[in-house]
Amino acid sequence: MSINFAAMAGLIIDDIVLPTGETRMGVPGGSGTHSVWGMRIWSESVGLLASYGADCPAEILAAFDQAGILLQRAAANPEPTPRCWQVFEFNQHRTEIFRTSEADFYRLQPVLTDIPAAWQSAAGFHLLHEAKDMAALAHFLRAGGVGCLLAEPPPTDFTPEHLDAFAAFLPFVEVFSPNWEESAQLLGFDDPDDIVSRFLEMGVPVVALRMGAAGSLVATRWKRWRIPALAVPVVDVTGAGNSYCGGFLVGYAQTGDPHVGGLYGAVSASFTIEQFGLPVIDRTTTARAKQRLIDLQQR
Ligand SMILES: Nc1ncnc2c1ncn2[C@@H]1O[C@H](COP(=O)(O)OP(=O)(O)O)[C@@H](O)[C@H]1O
Ligand SMILES: [Mg+2]
Repeated sequence: MSINFAAMAGLIIDDIVLPTGETRMGVPGGSGTHSVWGMRIWSESVGLLASYGADCPAEILAAFDQAGILLQRAAANPEPTPRCWQVFEFNQHRTEIFRTSEADFYRLQPVLTDIPAAWQSAAGFHLLHEAKDMAALAHFLRAGGVGCLLAEPPPTDFTPEHLDAFAAFLPFVEVFSPNWEESAQLLGFDDPDDIVSRFLEMGVPVVALRMGAAGSLVATRWKRWRIPALAVPVVDVTGAGNSYCGGFLVGYAQTGDPHVGGLYGAVSASFTIEQFGLPVIDRTTTARAKQRLIDLQQR
């Protein structure tokens, strides 16, 4: 089945621990899951290609059906299904601790041959693989006629020894969305304008630097936009960045305007952070998203 917007990543069962001691166990998670929920805020034609075990709880798989998101299972599957602690500090720093094999999680990520032929020409594709694998994926999807590629490598890649791997893929994607704290670790300086300048110099046309409660900085070589965060009650920020990217991809692919991408991203993220786990998608979602877009534009 063909879809307009896709992500490709591992599915993870999250056990969330807040700094207050409050916990929520067994929540559907993983970068791709949060991304497709962020896309689904804006598009009815969304799919996730993911690796997960046969033991994956039925209620997690059912959540995709309920949200109207197509879930495509990759050939190689981690057993048991990947599971992680997500431990938060008061400053919202998150530590991800794998309860299953982290090596297996990365080793058994979906690969090129798992991508359904019809998805290769999607309007937008969100890549969440390690930096070293990005260029090959980008070339494959390009050959299939994909519309727009957004790259968001995992947090563990953001150390100076991976800088060459970033340089190798950045010219082959339209949008790169790193997190501020992680970019500072990768580059060794932390001024947001300097960070986006450096990534633009490395050859990517659009950078969307994510800065938590401070919002995001969207930049091209010619223009920059500061996108504020929406004022919603913050319950659990797990997946905010992935959801932002999913929303950004839809907004940017549909309009060609990076500013619209940033606005859509901020709205998608606001839906992700106001409860544990994933936002409920129902018939009110589109209207609420459009209202938040208006609120954001008036700020
Ligand atoms: N504490 C927060 N308060 C309000 N909005 C937030 C908060 N954390 C994240 N967001 C929203 O989610 C977006 C992406 O989250 P961010 O924290 O930047 O990424 P990451 O998930 O990589 O840490 C932000 O640009 C902002 O719109
Ligand atoms: Mg954050």
